[in-house]
Amino acid sequence: GKGAAMVTAVAYRLAAQRKRIDAALAPFLLTLETLQEVKNKMRTELEYGLKRETQASASVKMLPTYVCGTPDGTEKGKFLALDLGGTNFRVLLVKIRSGRRRSVQMYNKIFAIPLEIMQGTGEELFDHIVQCIADFLEYMGIKGARLPLGFTFSFPCRQASIDKGTLVGWTKGFKATDCEGEDVVDMLREAIRRRNEFDLDIVAVVNDTVGTMMTCGYEDPNCEIGLIAGTGSNVCYMEDMKNIEIVEGNEGKMCINTEWGGFGDNGCIDNIRTKYDKEVDEGSLNPGKQRYEKMTSGMYLGEIVRQILIDLTKQGLLFRGQISESLRKRGIFETKFLSQIESDRLALLQVRRILQQLGLDSTCEDSIIVKEVCGAVSKRAAQLCGAGLAAIVEKKRENQGVEHLQITVGVDGTLYKLHPHFSRVLRETVKELAPRCDVTFMLSEDGSGKGAALITAVAKRLHNVGQK
Ligand code: GLC
Repeated sequence: GKGAAMVTAVAYRLAAQRKRIDAALAPFLLTLETLQEVKNKMRTELEYGLKRETQASASVKMLPTYVCGTPDGTEKGKFLALDLGGTNFRVLLVKIRSGRRRSVQMYNKIFAIPLEIMQGTGEELFDHIVQCIADFLEYMGIKGARLPLGFTFSFPCRQASIDKGTLVGWTKGFKATDCEGEDVVDMLREAIRRRNEFDLDIVAVVNDTVGTMMTCGYEDPNCEIGLIAGTGSNVCYMEDMKNIEIVEGNEGKMCINTEWGGFGDNGCIDNIRTKYDKEVDEGSLNPGKQRYEKMTSGMYLGEIVRQILIDLTKQGLLFRGQISESLRKRGIFETKFLSQIESDRLALLQVRRILQQLGLDSTCEDSIIVKEVCGAVSKRAAQLCGAGLAAIVEKKRENQGVEHLQITVGVDGTLYKLHPHFSRVLRETVKELAPRCDVTFMLSEDGSGKGAALITAVAKRLHNVGQK
């Protein structure tokens, strides 16, 4: 009868809808072989980055950091640290005690960096940073102290020593003019001079991955890798000096900031990039750059989700085929929303409430689909990140010439820490792709601040740098 015909029609419509959703998400399902291939390609690019002849054109830059050892517990003193390039900009005062009453105390203040400053001129950016430092010194009552400062600057920098770093290119949400190719320590010193109100002894410029590794290394000497899975995605690790062709010397180790976010910028992983990845890339501040980062980090996952939702809506499969004003807005799906949407403890009604907050009117069916889309995108991100990390630990194992490697990875970043599934999938992938490595993941507590202070302490002890 009529009723049966209607049921059949509904069933047919649902099946057709299902088919098209599955088709949109299919390219996000990566087989074990594909992940293995990603791991192998990452390994190749790591090697290119270390070799003199191939280094200039390598998509993974492998930047020497001039950090040659992990802390040993004898570090002490009072330090300032700056943290630029993560979710927040912060100024910190760090007090390190050595010996039996070894401890680290920190005071910090978060400052906003308005968009027009992130994307204004370099001078404006550094003047703003120095303004924030002045506020902090005033607030803490230490304006006359001339403390040693460690600058955590989480962007690719070419270093010739621990206290020099030339910005290779902005990544993530920054795009201030006249900075690329300039020494960021000089720019900071000049801004301090322009203000002419206080003096600082800038001792070290540090990538956040390195700060994270050092912070965890303070507790666990086996920590020789630092991973950030947050706004951006990056790894550093201790490499044998003899393998770093662009730095003199063959003894000992040096920390390499891989800048693996650029992996694939030469097209080597284009076979797994979807049309959504390409759209995200084209709409970004740095088209063509940081292709792996754009598939694996917090700043972009929400954008990939948004592109898929737009496509499904255009196909009439979502939101009654209506692309709302909000869905057109770049950046609406921040990591914290993705994390909430994917939380298994959340009822669908709550998912709908979150979408509502974002200005998206959803039916119950819509919310199921949105959650599925988020799941596909974040799972792929964790797997790709795991494949990259598998290449790193496997390299470390070969370097050490052992059958089995025990190693600790210091980790930080909002994606790793807040997302309900990312860290588990990442760990499972590493286990699967690097079965001869036994990897312990150690969460870093404020690596960017503490780590910068520890590095500054070590640098002051070893080289007596700064003090100019
Ligand atoms: C970007 C930066 C890199 C940083 C990472 C995590 O990839 O280029 O230097 O470590 O984000 O913040």
